[in-house]
Parts: sequence; C-alpha cells; structure tokens
Amino acid sequence: MNGLALGTSGFLGARFSSGADLARAADENPLTIAVLGATGRTGRFVVEDLLARGHSVRGISRSAGQQPPRDGATWISADVRKPETLRPALEDVDALVYAVGVTYTRVEVGALYDVYHTGVADTAAVARQAGVKRFVLLSSAGRLLDGEFPERLRPSMDAKAKGEAALRASGIHYTISRTPGLSDRPGGEYGILLLQMDPIPPGGPYMVCREDSASVLAECAVGENAINKTFTVINVVTPEVGAWREALPYLQQDPT
Ligand SMILES: NC(=O)c1ccc[n+]([C@@H]2O[C@H](COP(=O)([O-])OP(=O)(O)OC[C@H]3O[C@@H](n4cnc5c(N)ncnc54)[C@H](OP(=O)(O)O)[C@@H]3O)[C@@H](O)[C@H]2O)c1
Repeated sequence: MNGLALGTSGFLGARFSSGADLARAADENPLTIAVLGATGRTGRFVVEDLLARGHSVRGISRSAGQQPPRDGATWISADVRKPETLRPALEDVDALVYAVGVTYTRVEVGALYDVYHTGVADTAAVARQAGVKRFVLLSSAGRLLDGEFPERLRPSMDAKAKGEAALRASGIHYTISRTPGLSDRPGGEYGILLLQMDPIPPGGPYMVCREDSASVLAECAVGENAINKTFTVINVVTPEVGAWREALPYLQQDPT
C-alpha cells in the first residue's frame, strides 16, 4: 500500500467546524451505530462522540448489559467469541465500530486470535446477514521497516492482520483504522494525520490518543467517505486540529 494523505493544514477548513454543526448533521440523518467494546477505554469515547452528534448507540461488550440506562444508548451483553449472541445485538443497526480488545500480556495466544481474527470474521458475517451497512475496525499499526512485527507483538499483530484480511474478504463495506500506541491524553489537542503507508515511516514512536482515535472511528461509521479504506491514525502538531475530516475522501480505496 502506498500513498500519503495529510489531515493537516493541507486540507484547510474542517467541514464540520463545531459540535453544534456535527449535531445538526446527525439530526438530518440519525443512525443507529453498534459499538463493540463500548465499555473499553476507546469504545466509550466512540459512544460519547456518536451520542453528542445525535445518533443512537447500541453499546456491546460482555459486560455492557450492566451499564446504567442512558438516553440514546441501549446496552447489550454479547461475546464476539459466540456469534449467536451477536445476532440480536446487531438487528436494525446501520453501522458498527469494532473496538474490542484484550491485553496481549494477560491472555493466552489463542484468545488473541479469538478476538482479533475469528471474532472479526464472525462479526462481519453476522453483520452482513443482519443488513449492517458498514463495519469500522480499530486495528493496530506496528510493522517494522523489514515488514515484520516486533517479536513481543507478533501474535496479536498476526491475529489482527488475519482479522483485517477476513474483513476485506467478507463483502461488507469496511474501514480499517489502525493506531500505533494509544494514550489517554484528552482529544482535540493535536491534529490527526491519516497515513496510507505500511509500514509507516521511521521517526516514531508514534501515538494517538484514544479520544481522537474514537472520533475517527465514529466519523467513518456515520459517513461514506472511508468505505473500503485502510489507514493509520497518528497525532501531529498542527493548528488545524479538525482538518483530518477533509482528508477522508482523498484516501485511496484498497485494491480489490
Ligand atoms: N494499548 C495500545 O497502545 C494499543 C495500540 C494500538 C491498538 N490497540 C488496540 O485498540 C483496541 C482497543 O483498545 P482499548 O485499550 O480501548 O481496549 P480496552 O480498554 O481493553 O477495552 C476492550 C473492550 O473490548 C471488550 N471485549 C473484550 N473481549 C470481548 C469479547 N470477547 N466480546 C465482546 N467484547 C469484548 C471489553 O469489554 P468486556 O470485558 O466487558 O467484554 C472492552 O469493552 C484493541 O484492539 C487494542 O489491541 C491498543
């Protein structure tokens, strides 16, 4: 994959300049978006972003059913390792965000493949049957210049690469949004660069904060600018922090 899309001052003037604009845009076409991993550190920001924009959220994870009621959100417990639990959760959903994760140091290798490979493949199959129109996958960047993954990350990255391939082959419209290291800094402080290079160039370590990563995931779920595109999201210093939205239509679609 080659090409480079800059979500910085190369694309001046974000189309949606304020939270009010975003909410108005959603009012015109409110959607129901399923967020898998909604109780996680990234997923919860995806939920907040979507609700703030006036969309309905179906919050899904193994423990989601224990969440307190909230306007605009329905919480459903389901397990991506058990596709039969996903079918009722994905009924009448327009698009989904898959922000499911397990900590690679705390689980057996098989659990990584359950969540990042077969979990993605099974969710895509169920979503397609249920008529879900878009599948937005939170994945990881981290390939070294020689094309390999760092040794300690190899099982999880291999599982994610297989999950990405399964999603591309599933036939559902998809977006793959890769992140390098995730941080818990507040979102909106820095710009966002959308890179279509794998591996990404030397000069890191690169980071993106979870809140900014979540904004990108939410945007890709509600719009059609990122269909069948794969990119890496990193934070950069720029005065135009929201200009990345302008970059999405310019990214190249994956070869079929
Ligand atoms: N940490 C990093 O620096 C980094 C870097 C790049 C990419 N990432 C990736 O970013 C993603 C999200 O990371 P995060 O830190 O936001 O994750 P997190 O806080 O650990 O949240 C994970 C979410 O997944 C849910 N989940 C786990 N297993 C599940 C299952 N079998 N079925 C349904 N839901 C399940 C969890 O809820 P329940 O436990 O209730 O099910 C939780 O909502 C992961 O893919 C991670 O690998 C992380």
